[in-house]
Amino acid sequence: MKFPQTLPALAVIAIAICGCKASAPSKAENAVVNEVKHEVTIGGKDVKNPIAYTADAAKEGGEHFQHHCQICHGLDGQNTGVPFAAKMDPPVADLSVKDVQDYTDGQLKWIIENGIKPSGMPGWKGILDEEEMWNIVHYIRHLPPKGSLGAPEIFKEEAEEHEHTHDAAGHEHKDVKPHKH
Ligand code: HEC
Repeated sequence: MKFPQTLPALAVIAIAICGCKASAPSKAENAVVNEVKHEVTIGGKDVKNPIAYTADAAKEGGEHFQHHCQICHGLDGQNTGVPFAAKMDPPVADLSVKDVQDYTDGQLKWIIENGIKPSGMPGWKGILDEEEMWNIVHYIRHLPPKGSLGAPEIFKEEAEEHEHTHDAAGHEHKDVKPHKH
């Protein structure tokens, strides 16, 4: 599968963002930020998903997810194989966790549409249409088991390239490599 040019560009932006991390926020700060996000910042709370859940709807959402979102969230939405996921500030959310699943469908769609500023989560208004965003919400509600889809192709290639460099140069390369869980 070929990736559009914008996806590697986003990865570069993501890596750039994680370079300016100063200090980690405390647990209490995180709890407050989380509460404010759930209750105030994120809109769409009462908006219902107009597309009824079917396995096909989730599958279609998964295809869009694996096109647009995997570069940061992994194919499975749980950051599998994304080397910079934990280094971003805030880190890339694991979409299977309670904090994310606690959002209403409307809020998840709002997040996809508008993104979360000033984090690295981009908004997709004008890129994805309504139906695509709602199908992605179905996919987020029915994520595959963590690790079951492997690492995004782009990071696999990167890992292989590092291996080649290692062979040719004959010295240790302590660069990012996708973790295998
Ligand atoms: C450039 C990297 C990047 C891409 C691409 C990306 N995300 Fe994210 N996403 C993030 C980061 C970073 C966060 C954590 C933001 C935060 O906690 O404030 C996040 C958080 C989220 C959250 C949870 C928000 C929360 O409050 O916990 C959802 C849902 C989400 N992303 C869905 C998506 C979907 C769907 C796509 C594709 C249409 C996508 N993301 C593409 C980086 C990305």
